[in-house]
Order: sequence, then structure tokens, then C-alpha cells
Amino acid sequence: MNTPTWSLRRVHALDDALIDGLAAVLIDCVEGDASVSFMHPLPRDRAVAFWRRVAHGVAAGERALLVAEDALGLCGTVQLVLDQPDNQPHRADLAKMLVHRRVRRQGLGTALMRAAEATARECGKTLLVLDAVTNGDAARLYESLGWVRVGVIPGYALMPRGGLCDTTVYYRTLGA
Ligand SMILES: CC(C)(COP(=O)(O)OP(=O)(O)OC[C@H]1O[C@@H](n2cnc3c(N)ncnc32)[C@H](O)[C@@H]1OP(=O)(O)O)[C@@H](O)C(=O)NCCC(=O)NCCS
Repeated sequence: MNTPTWSLRRVHALDDALIDGLAAVLIDCVEGDASVSFMHPLPRDRAVAFWRRVAHGVAAGERALLVAEDALGLCGTVQLVLDQPDNQPHRADLAKMLVHRRVRRQGLGTALMRAAEATARECGKTLLVLDAVTNGDAARLYESLGWVRVGVIPGYALMPRGGLCDTTVYYRTLGA
């Protein structure tokens, strides 16, 4: 097995360099037609504004943010939305799982998911929820990692260049 060329870490505060790198990964994913809340083309200032909002959530402890970096810079990220209603303290949403196209299909997505699950446990979470484009690359990844399919919502969102796509909702129970 090849040694990974990236390193993963949890970030507790975002500086401008990190926000720049995260914006670049988000723009690359939208350019590659990933349905991740934004339309194509995604202007840099809009991507930066998104990550600045995330930075506030991270600083407030409402979100856990993981990043992956390699020799060329930031190459992947995933988040846990920890801040949930009073009656769901054991739950988190997994969000914005993004891997730059230059490092895809090398196991980074899998590594980010495993790290996110470990972080969720450390935060006392026992139930994770996410949604993904039905039958897409991400959905295949989640199913291979044991996430349970709840169901499909037809026509949930637009693809970056237009056209509705279906979304599948998943959950995962974290054992002790
Ligand atoms: C979904 C996504 C995160 C997956 O990231 P990734 O780093 O490519 O994931 P992995 O490398 O762990 O796995 C992807 C595939 O590569 C394969 N793979 C992993 N390591 C490999 C290796 N060393 N050699 C060959 N293939 C490999 C996996 O088996 C998997 O195969 P499959 O697609 O046929 O099932 C990435 O495609 C992405 O960022 N997409 C755009 C954003 C997006 O849609 N995010 C999800 C929002 S819900």
C-alpha cells in the first residue's frame, strides 16, 4: 500500500491562508460539477465569504473542521455541524466533504470520513446524518463505509450548471 502524500488535522481557528486554500478547493469542486450548494461559476469572493462564515462557526465551537494538506497545499476538507437542537445533543451533520480533483481516487475521501467519525466520537456524538447526490461518487463512498441509506428526495437541488438532481439521505450510528 502506498504511503499517503497528505496529512490530516483538525483546525480550531482559520487564518487568511487557510481560507484561501479552502476557497480554492471549493471552487475546484464546483468547476468539476459537484453539487455542494453553489452554482457554476463560483466567484472567489463568494467562496471566501462562505469560508469566513464557517470560520465563525469553528471559532464558536459550533463546527468541527478537518483539513488535508499535501506538498501543493490544501487538498481536502470535511465538517461536522456540532451545534444541534437541545433534544439532539448526540447528533451531528456531516457537511462539505470536498477533495480537490488533483488528488481524487487515492483514498483521501475515505481518510477524511474516518477522521470525521473519530472526531465526532471525541465530541460525544453517536449519530451522524448527511445527504448526497443520488448515485454519485460521494454516495458510493458513504455506502462503502457503512452509512445507511434512508431515502431519496427527488429534485432536491440544482447541479452547478443547471438541471435538478435527486438527493439521498444517510445516517451512521457510531459505536462505543
Ligand atoms: C466524493 C469525494 C469526496 C471522494 O473523494 P476521493 O478522495 O476520491 O475518495 P476515495 O479516493 O477515498 O474513494 C473514491 C474512489 O477511489 C477508489 N480508490 C481509493 N484509493 C484508491 C487507490 N489508491 N487507487 C485506485 N483507486 C482508489 C475508491 O475505491 C473509490 O472507488 P469508487 O468511486 O469506484 O467506489 C470526491 O469525489 C469529491 O470531493 N467530490 C466532489 C465534492 C462532493 O461531491 N462532495 C460530496 C458532497 S455530499
